[in-house]
Amino acid sequence: MKILVVGSGGREHAITWRLSKDEEKHELFCAPGNAGTTSIATNLKVGAEDVQGVCEWAKENKPDLVVVGPEAPLVKGLVDELEKLGIPAFGPVQDGARMEGSKRFAKEIMDAAGVPTGMAKTFTDAAEAKAALPEYGLPVVIKADGLAAGKGVIVAETLAQAEEAIDDMLVANKFGAAGAEVLIEEFLHGEECSILAMVDGENAVLLPSSQDHKRVFDGDKGPNTGGMGAYSPAPVITSDKLPMIKEKIILPVVRELKKRGITYRGILYAGLMVNNDNSYPHGPAAKSGSDINVVEFNARFGDPETEAVLPRLGGNFAAALFHAATGCLKDEDIVVKEECAATVILASGGYPGSYEKGKVIEGVGEGVGVGEGIVFHCGTKQDGDKVITSGGRVLSVTGLGKTLREAVDNAYSRVSKISFDTCFYRKDIAHRAFER
Ligand code: AMP
Ligand code: GLY
Repeated sequence: MKILVVGSGGREHAITWRLSKDEEKHELFCAPGNAGTTSIATNLKVGAEDVQGVCEWAKENKPDLVVVGPEAPLVKGLVDELEKLGIPAFGPVQDGARMEGSKRFAKEIMDAAGVPTGMAKTFTDAAEAKAALPEYGLPVVIKADGLAAGKGVIVAETLAQAEEAIDDMLVANKFGAAGAEVLIEEFLHGEECSILAMVDGENAVLLPSSQDHKRVFDGDKGPNTGGMGAYSPAPVITSDKLPMIKEKIILPVVRELKKRGITYRGILYAGLMVNNDNSYPHGPAAKSGSDINVVEFNARFGDPETEAVLPRLGGNFAAALFHAATGCLKDEDIVVKEECAATVILASGGYPGSYEKGKVIEGVGEGVGVGEGIVFHCGTKQDGDKVITSGGRVLSVTGLGKTLREAVDNAYSRVSKISFDTCFYRKDIAHRAFER
């Protein structure tokens, strides 16, 4: 197949890499890709958010499939435009991407579909929002409705912090249009995990579970990031919970969207708060009464979850994506290997705040294979014969193993061979699984 992958991060490198591992050899392109994708695909000089540029290339080159990685082009309607050209695209149409692009819309769909989630209400007036705070207790969660580059969620420990967050969004316009509406949401106690469901408009197949590490430092300390590592499977989700997640969370959303005329195809990513038997020591799960509640939906593969999940998939990955994109996905399309995976993100000093770019990276090489680790590029650039840093999250290194311990050891052993000035990474990936 001729396949175009849209995006330039670790997620897109992992998607392209996994496609390159299919038995059938594909012709692969990335728009724009990164230094890591050059050896397995042709990088195009087309940005991921350049809807017109991607469509022009697609019109001329007629790919069999376009796989859209990041949320921004989905929210901009790239898939709608590709559909008009008759080109199969993996990813939801613009209206479907609102599951990620508008937290109010996602809540509306969840409420209509009876999906367990935190109690929440939307406000545009600061005084009304503040007056509602006492109903929610503490901590309480204040969320900007729109996309705010991962910064639009504030978990407030005190009433003063909650009021400040409301003022920041509704009065000071700190998040612009994204914060013109805010959600006040009940705080959910428990442990988070990510379920990526592949959806074809009607049916869904769950990919293996995973857990992200959002905080920048060991022990889940410091500010939130795009993700500092991940591992799969996540033992907090026992296999007996998976049917409930599919039947009570994923499929009701897909059906509710369909009822509204939205055919959702692509990945529906459910960020879940798990509080098994409602026994989490800090408090009950949620007013919903369910021990698994939705924290958020994303309209795409997670990053770095993808780097941990995709190496565990066997079978014909391109066929699975194509079947989802064309409405004929089958359970057999997803083949899961009995392996564990752990992913460590190597970041630039200062991230998630400001950081320097252009540092020469040593030791990236090819390095693919069990016992070595797979190096996915996130924020890198080719500079002559050198690879240099060009982002906050620079590399994503995945180890595989029969056990999670082996996977983690393999990942860190590969990490130890890489260096660049200011590099740092978390040393406790999968700690929650080991603490169990
Ligand atoms: P979101 O962008 O909605 O995923 O929120 C970012 C992060 O904030 C989540 O991954 C959680 O760690 C935290 N969070 C969001 N909503 C809640 C909630 N209702 N209860 C507890 N933590 C939350
Ligand atoms: N790792 C979190 C996300 O992709 O949104």
